[in-house]
Amino acid sequence: MSQDFLPLKGTDYVELYVGNAKQSALYYQYAFGYELIAYAGPETGVKDRASYVLKQDKIRLVLTSPLHPDGEIADHIQKHGDGVKVLALWVDDAEQSWKETTNRGAVSSSEPKKISDENGHVVVSSIKTYGETIHTFVERKNYTGIFLPGYQPRSSTYTPQPIGLKYIDHCVGNVALGEMNRWVEFYETVMGFKLLITFDDEDISTEYSALMSKVVSNGNGYVKFPINEPAEGKKKSQIEEYLDFYRGPGVQHMAIATDDIIHTVTELRKRGVEFLVVPSSYYDDLLDRVGKIDEDLQPLKDLNILVDRDDEGYLLQIFTKPVQDRPTLFFEIIQRKGAKSFGKGNFKALFEAIEREQGLRGNL
Ligand code: FE2
Repeated sequence: MSQDFLPLKGTDYVELYVGNAKQSALYYQYAFGYELIAYAGPETGVKDRASYVLKQDKIRLVLTSPLHPDGEIADHIQKHGDGVKVLALWVDDAEQSWKETTNRGAVSSSEPKKISDENGHVVVSSIKTYGETIHTFVERKNYTGIFLPGYQPRSSTYTPQPIGLKYIDHCVGNVALGEMNRWVEFYETVMGFKLLITFDDEDISTEYSALMSKVVSNGNGYVKFPINEPAEGKKKSQIEEYLDFYRGPGVQHMAIATDDIIHTVTELRKRGVEFLVVPSSYYDDLLDRVGKIDEDLQPLKDLNILVDRDDEGYLLQIFTKPVQDRPTLFFEIIQRKGAKSFGKGNFKALFEAIEREQGLRGNL
C-alpha cells in the first residue's frame, strides 16, 4: 500500500464535555493561557448546549455543557465526568474520509454533512473509536469563519498572554485489559496508521503495577495516538484506576508541545496548575543518564521537569495532576529537542509519582 487513504492535515480541535463549560473556559484561559475566540449557545441559535472555543497557537479546545438533564451530552458527563468526547482531525475531504474508514470497518457516529453560514461551508463526519470517544473529520477549505458554522466570534475582557503551548504532540487513550491490540489494529486497518513503538510491562512497571502501551501514528506523523492497557501487578494499575473512574475507555492525557518548557511550566505553576512530583534524587544522576543538555539543571529540578534521551536527541516533559476531581484526564507538557520518543527513561519515576497520588486517594 503506497497511497495514504486517509491523509490528515493535523488535529483540528479537541472537544471536552464538561459540567460547567463557562467556568472551565475561564480555567483554561487563566491557568493555561488560552484565548476565548468563539461561542455557540442559545444566543447563537443552539438550544441544547453551550460551547466555548479556546485557542493557543495551533491548539483549539472546545468546552461543551448541556443545558438540560436529558440527552447525549448530559449522559456522557453523568457517566464519565469531564472528559474528551471528540478528537477532531483536519482533512481535505470529510466525505471521502468517512467512506474510506467505514468501508474498512469503522462504526459511523455521524454521516457526512455539509453545514453552511455566511462564511462558506464545512463538511463534517464522525466515526467511533474507543469507549464513547469519536473522531470527527473536518473539511474546512471552503470556510472562512472563526471556527465552524453555528459559532460566533467571542472574546473575553480577560486576554491572557499565551504561555507557549503550541500544538498537540500526542493524545493517549486508556483501554481495558486485553483490548490494546484490538485498538492498535483499528488504527492500522481502519485509519491506515502505522505502529511506531511498543512498550511492554517490562518497560513500564514499578514495584506495584504495570501497563502496556503501543503508539500508532498517521502517515505524515502529525497525529500520534498511544494506546495503554493495564497489566498484571501486585497492586492496582493506574490504568485500572482511570477505567474505574471514567467508567470505561477514554482519553488519558494530551501532550502539548512547547519550545520553552521552563517558561511554560513556570507560568503554569504560578497560575496554580498542579504537577506530579518526582523525588529530588531523580536529578542526582540525571546528566550521567542523558548526557549534555542545553538547560541548567537547577530550574529543571526546581520545576520538577524530567529529561530523557533517545538516538535522535532529547526531550523534556512533565505531567499535570488530573484536571478534574476524578483521577482521569491530565495534561503533559513536552519540549522535543530532536527526540521523537515518549520519555521511556522517565516512565518509572513518573508512574511511581502517579502511584503515590493513587495511594493518597485510596485507590492503589
Ligand atoms: Fe505522553
